[in-house]
Amino acid sequence: MLTGGPEDAVLCLTVCTPTLDSAERILAEAWEWGALGVEERQVGDGVELDLYVGVEDEGALRARLEHFVTDGVAWGPRREVRPSNWSEAWKVGLRAIEISPRLAVAPSFVDYKATSGQQVVWIDPGQAFGTGGHASTRLVLDWIDRLAQDRASGSKPAEVLDVGTGSGVLALAALALGAAQAIGFDLDPIAVAEAKAVAAKNGVTDGFEVFVGGIEVVAGQRFDWVFANLLKTEMLPILDRIAETVRPAGWLVLAGLLEADQRIVSDHLSTCGLELAGVQRERDDSGAVWISPAFQRPA
Ligand SMILES: C[S@@+](CC[C@H](N)C(=O)[O-])C[C@H]1O[C@@H](n2cnc3c(N)ncnc32)[C@H](O)[C@@H]1O
Repeated sequence: MLTGGPEDAVLCLTVCTPTLDSAERILAEAWEWGALGVEERQVGDGVELDLYVGVEDEGALRARLEHFVTDGVAWGPRREVRPSNWSEAWKVGLRAIEISPRLAVAPSFVDYKATSGQQVVWIDPGQAFGTGGHASTRLVLDWIDRLAQDRASGSKPAEVLDVGTGSGVLALAALALGAAQAIGFDLDPIAVAEAKAVAAKNGVTDGFEVFVGGIEVVAGQRFDWVFANLLKTEMLPILDRIAETVRPAGWLVLAGLLEADQRIVSDHLSTCGLELAGVQRERDDSGAVWISPAFQRPA
């Protein structure tokens, strides 16, 4: 049980992880255990996590996460955070992210003022991936904004599939920008619970169906916009089945990929009848270039 509180000193423990996937799993376990707050930063291909914990609880958190300390996961520095500001410290790296004059993503504790006509998806950091803090999420959000703008006025609002929905951020952004309905799924039950909570927080009660499961559950269904922000190792085994869900004239937006991965996914999707329509890129602080390619199925 946590004993940290406004009167108590709080520690910030850094964990260095080699992949996004390992960072997500550590983050989920730290939250489940009861960490007071977390921050994450991309460093090279890996991620550094700052975990905030009451001084009394350091040993318990370290013990809980010890089983991760293999395969390149390592404890980093530890520092004490002044009692007066511990509850605010973990929020420092979290800010509103303006994707366009039409779309922003913001934590609820940030006093973000939407510009006229701008939709805001409110997401607090939780156990699921997808606060907009990672380049891969932002790149897809940017595509969603473009797709929504380009969708001819008078055409039917889009039907959306969000593969590996995490916090639900992509589906909720698409709905905010006019999509008719969205289906999101994730193998992780914690992510699905969170996506439901985030949807409720954003006032989305209809039009967003979320479930725990894999791509097989939507076999035979077709969508206008399909998003899949997954690690390459998670994406490649199901890429054929993801491609099948894109209806004629529909779009598939991928992310979670690095520049070097582009060739393999593009070559593979061309054999599935999808044409590369464009690639967005973002270089992170470590110099790694994240890409988000978009593909279209001919009408
Ligand atoms: C990088 S996160 C993306 C979350 C969110 N869509 C975003 O863009 O920020 C990837 C998510 O995909 C889920 N996932 C990984 N492989 C999956 C699969 N084969 N089927 C469904 N979900 C999967 C993970 O549990 C994780 O929540």
